[in-house]
Amino acid sequence: MLTYQQAQQILDAAESIYSAQTIAQTLQRLAADITKVLSQQQPLVLCVMGGAVVFAGQLLPQLRFPLDFDYVHLTRYGNELTGGEIRWRVEPRESVKDRVVLVLDDILDEGITLAAVRDKVLENGAKAFYSAVLTEKETGKPKPFQADFVGLTVPDRYVFGFGMDIHGAWRNLPAIYAVKIKPEIGRAMFAIIGGSGMTQLSCLEISHRQIIRTPYGEPSGPLTFGKMKNEDIVFLARHGHGHTIPPHAVNYRANLWALHSLKPSHVIAVASVGGIRSDLAPGRLVIPDQIIDYTHGRKFTYFDNTEQHVTHIDFTLPYCQQTRALLLQAAKNANEAIIDGGVYAATQGPRLETAAEINRLERDGVDMVGMTGMPEAALARELGLNYATIAVVANYAAGRGTNVTGIPLKEIYMVLEQAMVGVRNILEHVVSCHGD
Ligand code: HPA
Repeated sequence: MLTYQQAQQILDAAESIYSAQTIAQTLQRLAADITKVLSQQQPLVLCVMGGAVVFAGQLLPQLRFPLDFDYVHLTRYGNELTGGEIRWRVEPRESVKDRVVLVLDDILDEGITLAAVRDKVLENGAKAFYSAVLTEKETGKPKPFQADFVGLTVPDRYVFGFGMDIHGAWRNLPAIYAVKIKPEIGRAMFAIIGGSGMTQLSCLEISHRQIIRTPYGEPSGPLTFGKMKNEDIVFLARHGHGHTIPPHAVNYRANLWALHSLKPSHVIAVASVGGIRSDLAPGRLVIPDQIIDYTHGRKFTYFDNTEQHVTHIDFTLPYCQQTRALLLQAAKNANEAIIDGGVYAATQGPRLETAAEINRLERDGVDMVGMTGMPEAALARELGLNYATIAVVANYAAGRGTNVTGIPLKEIYMVLEQAMVGVRNILEHVVSCHGD
């Protein structure tokens, strides 16, 4: 609980973003819109405690048609960073069965809480589900939930007042406030996704690990936080800590979502590849600049909600140019040989390719082949992440180089182990030259 003084200081320093008058006008509009749709349905109105209590209290007297009223109560525990997991205190009761339900909430933020309410209400047999929110936060991210009635949009900042609390305080304010944006404190964090041959980052001084749940399920494993050359790093092993998740089964959406929730300055993916172009011999390191996607059946977008506006992303240059440049500069500083550019083909795996498939890829203009580059790069772009890849050539692709009749699988891990020394050296230089 905040002390009286702390609460007062927060309010004094905050910025008023919606006045009591604007909120009153908004409630009138919402009431009219809701009346149009639901006045003949005798809905059961559920208030989400405790944030929606002021909203519900002022909206209900303006809904002049028969309705019933009840409430639900749920929280997300865990810290603010992860959002945490849903914990029900009061679930929707039996009474929702066969009813048209209207849920009232103060704020639609990430949409996880309201999605959980909707699922529970429908699970308990409601005939139809509607929702009205006083505010919706402009998070810039796709959400698993859309409200039917939205009052006001609020910026992606900590807001409070009119039912919304700040550390438990100020639900009672008649207006809506946002905490003043502090000048950036701390330094930007690098995120590193390790692939085959890099299930952990040995140069990282680990501080802690954290399991992060996302609307898309669980990432490949806990995120590992720590420092490298005194810079903050978060590391995720794409195939899981024990290298148990095959490329087609990686939950790419959860992985990228979890990293994005930490607002990293850059995401650097390490991925092993087979070399097709003759200079891409085992052990070589490449910063690819193009991708062709041959994968299928993977969950490849966050924008697949049919209730959402159709969203396209530009993917002409699939990797972040600035992050690529940073990696190339770091390799130079680290004295590690690196190849600038090349077309990466993402194949489905987990089997390696046939020689004929590699011939076809070459005709398509491909230089190297791996199994994890997509949809990872596209999802990173959908989330606006600065993403680039260090490709590590593990072997000549099928039918190439010394692998005319087969790929010696046992050798791959030895090659990767050696090559990762260079990769770690580059990573250490990336973070330190970025910190300069
Ligand atoms: N093909 C596909 N993915 C790979 C290969 C390969 O030859 N080597 C390492 N990852």
